[in-house]
Amino acid sequence: MKIKSAEIVISAVKPSQYPEEDIPEIAFAGRSNVGKSSSINMLTNRRKLARTSSSPGKTQTINFYRINNEFNLVDLPGYGYAKVSKSNKEQWGKMIETYLTSRKNLLEVFQLVDIRHKPTDQDQQMYSWIKHFGFNGIVVVTKADKVSRGQRQKHLKEIRETLQMKKEDILIPISAETREGKDELWSVIHEIFRV
Ligand code: GTP
Ligand code: MG
Repeated sequence: MKIKSAEIVISAVKPSQYPEEDIPEIAFAGRSNVGKSSSINMLTNRRKLARTSSSPGKTQTINFYRINNEFNLVDLPGYGYAKVSKSNKEQWGKMIETYLTSRKNLLEVFQLVDIRHKPTDQDQQMYSWIKHFGFNGIVVVTKADKVSRGQRQKHLKEIRETLQMKKEDILIPISAETREGKDELWSVIHEIFRV
């Protein structure tokens, strides 16, 4: 995929701030620190397009990135961040739900999980939510560089089982560090935009 342009359109917290629904988009969901922002940077070959951080809770707004003036990649704030207050968690839930249910040009939501960890209850909830809203539920397994090749299949199997994925459901291991999985992820994205 040749990236001719990649720019942030807006950081939004409510629908009136969302950009126009003139081009299709895909969103990245997952726990804080799982690597959502890093994945967007990897895909677009930009080191600092989406801000990343080693401490969780970096992305707090819905960030829309416009790529080649053709489609948007959307970075969602992460969940599961322990230091967040209960009222903030509720706000987060409302913000995400409003986005997922109202956005007409949203074609798919990728669920990101860390290869090292068994998906949490919240991951499972998010994943079934995504499916409930009618998306395919494509799972992107991040930080693949953190697990040895020999251990990999065991981890992927646990993720598939915990999320109750079907055989035909797509799971893509990636690494923002080694850039593994980038081409596979792009081909899935192209497939989605083709419909
Ligand atoms: P929030 O914005 O808090 O929801 O987090 P996020 O999901 O956007 O995570 P982010 O992209 O900021 O990455 C979190 C940390 O994980 C950063 O320190 C990244 O450098 C690191 N990281 C992300 N992807 C990878 C990867 O593939 N491999 C390795 N080793 N580290 C990664
Ligand atoms: Mg982020």
